[in-house]
Amino acid sequence: MTDKTEKNLSYAFAAESKAAIRNDAFAKRAEKDGYPQIARLFRAISDAESVHARRFLFLMRGKVGPTEENLGAAFQNEIKANVDEYPKLIKDAMDENNKTALQAFSHARDVESRHAELYKKAMNDMLAERHSKYYVCQVCGYIFEDSLPENCPVCGAPKSKFNLVE
Ligand SMILES: [Fe+2]
Ligand SMILES: [Fe+2]
Repeated sequence: MTDKTEKNLSYAFAAESKAAIRNDAFAKRAEKDGYPQIARLFRAISDAESVHARRFLFLMRGKVGPTEENLGAAFQNEIKANVDEYPKLIKDAMDENNKTALQAFSHARDVESRHAELYKKAMNDMLAERHSKYYVCQVCGYIFEDSLPENCPVCGAPKSKFNLVE
């Protein structure tokens, strides 16, 4: 593959990933505004943009490897976000006294170390026969395994704000 194609795939992957999340946010807003059919349309298109994004990612060199490698890469990305990337964003938000951005970045930083911990555990028992359920906080992204306490330890959201991944 030429560098040009690699670059174009990377560009298209980023654009489609953003479009998927943007349409999903539009769907949530449409739901809230009382337009369930428009919400379904946004969700369907969000899903379709995800199809595009994944297809481009699979075509890129070295981005999706064997699962053992993917776990390692995913773990490293969480650590990098936790110790390197979010702290910079947090500092800027503090300097600008933007409290909502500060809270969102701080939650994300704290949650990334939880994500890293879950990956680490998975790497340690790759072959264990286990079926865990995961509960994902829809406010901050914190993840519980198997059982759910009353409130999210990072953002304080109640039980009802968690999505179950089986
Ligand atoms: Fe994460
Ligand atoms: Fe949370």
